[in-house]
Amino acid sequence: MTKRVAIIGAGPSGLAQLRAFQSAAQKGAETPEVVCFEKQDNWGGLWNYTWRTGLDEYGEPVHCSMYRYLWSNGPKEGLEFADYSFEEHFGKQIASYPPRAVLFDYIEGRVKKANVRDKIRFRTTVRHVAYDDASGKFTVTADDLANDHEYDEEFDHVVVASGHFSTPNVPHFEGFTTFNGRVLHAHDFRDAMEFKDKDILIIGTSYSAEDIGSQCWKYGCKSVTVSHRTAPMGYNWPDNWKEVPLLQNVKGNTCTFKDGSTTDVDAIILCTGYIHHFPFMPDDLRLKTANRLATANLYKGVAWVDNPKLFYLGMQDQWYTFNMFDAQAWWVRDAIMGRIEIPSEKSALTADVEDRVAREDAGEDDYDAIRYQGAYVKELIAETDYPSFDVDGANDAFFQWKKHKKQDIMTFRNNSYRSVMTGSMAPAHHTPWKDALDDSLESYLQN
Ligand SMILES: Cc1cc2nc3c(=O)[nH]c(=O)nc-3n(C[C@H](O)[C@H](O)[C@H](O)COP(=O)(O)OP(=O)(O)OC[C@H]3O[C@@H](n4cnc5c(N)ncnc54)[C@H](O)[C@@H]3O)c2cc1C
Ligand SMILES: NC(=O)c1ccc[n+]([C@@H]2O[C@H](COP(=O)([O-])OP(=O)(O)OC[C@H]3O[C@@H](n4cnc5c(N)ncnc54)[C@H](OP(=O)(O)O)[C@@H]3O)[C@@H](O)[C@H]2O)c1
Repeated sequence: MTKRVAIIGAGPSGLAQLRAFQSAAQKGAETPEVVCFEKQDNWGGLWNYTWRTGLDEYGEPVHCSMYRYLWSNGPKEGLEFADYSFEEHFGKQIASYPPRAVLFDYIEGRVKKANVRDKIRFRTTVRHVAYDDASGKFTVTADDLANDHEYDEEFDHVVVASGHFSTPNVPHFEGFTTFNGRVLHAHDFRDAMEFKDKDILIIGTSYSAEDIGSQCWKYGCKSVTVSHRTAPMGYNWPDNWKEVPLLQNVKGNTCTFKDGSTTDVDAIILCTGYIHHFPFMPDDLRLKTANRLATANLYKGVAWVDNPKLFYLGMQDQWYTFNMFDAQAWWVRDAIMGRIEIPSEKSALTADVEDRVAREDAGEDDYDAIRYQGAYVKELIAETDYPSFDVDGANDAFFQWKKHKKQDIMTFRNNSYRSVMTGSMAPAHHTPWKDALDDSLESYLQN
């Protein structure tokens, strides 16, 4: 009997898994039967933009955390697929920080070419996964939303690729209940034009804080105040931007911070990150981890140590993205197909996790973190037939990116880097990022 594999989610990670199996089949291997469950009506995961927030038309939590005008926050040279370059997709080299629609088009191009869409059951939410020791099989309970029909199916393996930047972490601050403006989490932020001419307060200092603040600045907000719990971001911000210690309370529209200073604002945007949330997994199979590079309980960063027939993809905090998901997906494919042997002793699996945690903890800064994740990508690629690429060169693009951000946070996206897949240099974009208000695919490709 052919093995059956369930993939939960058709974002970049789930699509990488579909492409990995298709690539093996293309080379003549006998591959398992694969079913991918996707609760949205299209593929692309977070890159599948919707205007909706809250619940969707079926009452499901909206997955999208992306917003209009989002451009890649890192250089595309760090995320390029090794088996499908930007040049292959667009027929030419493109600039280094593509907007969301351009990256969606690129992600879609590879899976259209691989012809895997018929493996995906769209508008189907996985409600529950159970493992039966006696049969050695998983039962997946799925909900066909459009037909309002719930059903069970059995699988030999489950690959959870449902993402972890979708369920917001939402702290409470004193006075929110009576604040005379809008309080929202980054997950529900969609259009920076909403905050034109407004004074905004942002809580948090990571990518969402930096980028949502920058978006609002670009599209004409009056001022940005960013409140930090640990440390300020410390970039060379524009004049109408300031960094303050943690918010203590809000009275009316007045926010008071830990140093006693106050500011009046029209809106508060919580850029306070996301939680790993898998309500469809039972306690004994549910990943519980912080957002870090060495996730808890995953051998090789993917195989569940208590039952390595279960895999999680893309659960790490991410410097590398698309090509790391590929490295993981090819490795998981080979583990499922018996080409890679997972040690049978649980102690060997947990020792692997402990070693990864210790090596991450030994790192001192972001540069070490990039090297660490680059080494992880190299390690997995070396064990499969995923096309090897110059990971050190990709690390280098990230290092340059960090320096460019330090030089000027509002111009870093005007820089270009060299592709490690094709060796060609990206052209400069035709318009500086701060002046490029039209972020459509058509406009971006006019180089
Ligand atoms: C605001 C924001 C901006 C980002 N920008 C960048 C960037 O510029 N560059 C970059 O490389 N990365 C970026 N990322 C990182 C992002 O995590 C990855 O690019 C990528 O989307 C992760 O892919 P994934 O498939 O693991 O998860 P996701 O993209 O989250 O996809 C998961 C999929 O699983 C589906 N799903 C979830 N639960 C279920 C269920 N129960 N049943 C069925 N289907 C389910 C979802 O509908 C979704 O389609 C950004 C993230 C955020 C939040
Ligand atoms: N344009 C883009 O491409 C783009 C834009 C946005 C986001 N993203 C991606 O989205 C992902 C998530 O980024 P993120 O910034 O949303 O999350 P994140 O990196 O996890 O950062 C969370 C932030 O929230 C703060 N925080 C958490 N709880 C808090 C509390 N109770 N009070 C005050 N501050 C609190 C943290 O502060 P401490 O430091 O004190 O812990 C941290 O600064 C990343 O992969 C990023 O690359 C990309």
